[in-house]
Amino acid sequence: MSRPKTKERILVTGGAGFIASHIVDAYVALGHKVIVLDNLSTGSRKNINPRANFYKADINDLPALERIFKKERPTVVNHHAAIAEVAKSLRNPIPTMTVNVLGTANLLLCTGAVNAKRFIFPSSGGTVYGEPAHLPTTEHMSLNPISPYGLSKLFGEQEIEFYSRMHGFTYLIFRYANVYGPRQNPKGEAGIMAIFSGLMKSNQRPTIFGDGSKTRDYLFVQDVVDANVRALTRGRNAIVNLGTGHQISDRAVFNTLAQEWGFTQKPIYTPFRKGEILRSALAHKKANEVLGWFPKFSLEKGIRTTVEWYQSH
Ligand SMILES: NC(=O)c1ccc[n+]([C@@H]2O[C@H](COP(=O)([O-])OP(=O)(O)OC[C@H]3O[C@@H](n4cnc5c(N)ncnc54)[C@H](O)[C@@H]3O)[C@@H](O)[C@H]2O)c1
Repeated sequence: MSRPKTKERILVTGGAGFIASHIVDAYVALGHKVIVLDNLSTGSRKNINPRANFYKADINDLPALERIFKKERPTVVNHHAAIAEVAKSLRNPIPTMTVNVLGTANLLLCTGAVNAKRFIFPSSGGTVYGEPAHLPTTEHMSLNPISPYGLSKLFGEQEIEFYSRMHGFTYLIFRYANVYGPRQNPKGEAGIMAIFSGLMKSNQRPTIFGDGSKTRDYLFVQDVVDANVRALTRGRNAIVNLGTGHQISDRAVFNTLAQEWGFTQKPIYTPFRKGEILRSALAHKKANEVLGWFPKFSLEKGIRTTVEWYQSH
């Protein structure tokens, strides 16, 4: 990565979590001033880059946000904080809606108040489209989320478009595929690469929901980081999918991980979970046109890197 001419003051919410902590590392390495805001609900202090300014704060605490924004005056806001689990949102949608919809509105108000110029946001390509009519899914296909989590991400997109019109900052909205890689929490309910790795490491049998044929599009976290770096300077008010365009079945994920871990037991099969679609793959033609981005990590390389990380952590 070449060093940018303009040094930004970038406030990253969720920067103690899985994806955004990697983005923070890249922004710091490029010489930007980075401010991390996280309530540490699922994130961890040990993920936070020591060269970033850290605030333990909740995005639903508007007075705290106003104080932090006034003090730090970010030029760019990259908003990754969220409750990011479909199953949790189905059990009780209120916390997910409160954080992902109202919390996002709080941040947008503060972004406008300090005249920041840019807002970057991860929506969810695996949930906002619902069960897609065609694969790989393109950005103009209909939006039919089947979980409160998917709905909350769609609301987030619309809030951003609205506040961008009100305040004049530009935005880049990503619709991520299933992101995996080092630092993903193996104790969560989402992210089967991490969950299966955690179980295989301690020689326990992972559970597959359904018959193993359900598919997802798996994107390695460093490819996501690359897109978030490009998004600092490219793409004016755009919504772009970020995925490989390939479907990988749960059974294939299990088999590839089992081979890497030397795990010889069979998975446990239980019924499909409500709120989950059966097939997903995201077209990335637009991300290529808007950002010059394409995924560089093969599944094999991404899985190998991920397993090596879990082996040593
Ligand atoms: N992981 C994926 O495959 C995926 C796919 C699509 C979109 N996304 C989006 O990417 C973002 C990051 O996801 P992740 O997988 O890294 O999850 P994560 O849980 O590791 O990260 C979320 C971070 O937000 C923080 N947070 C949660 N609620 C907060 C609040 N009220 N105030 C302040 N901080 C709060 C958590 O402590 C955590 O550090 C989320 O917005 C998620 O919706 C993730």
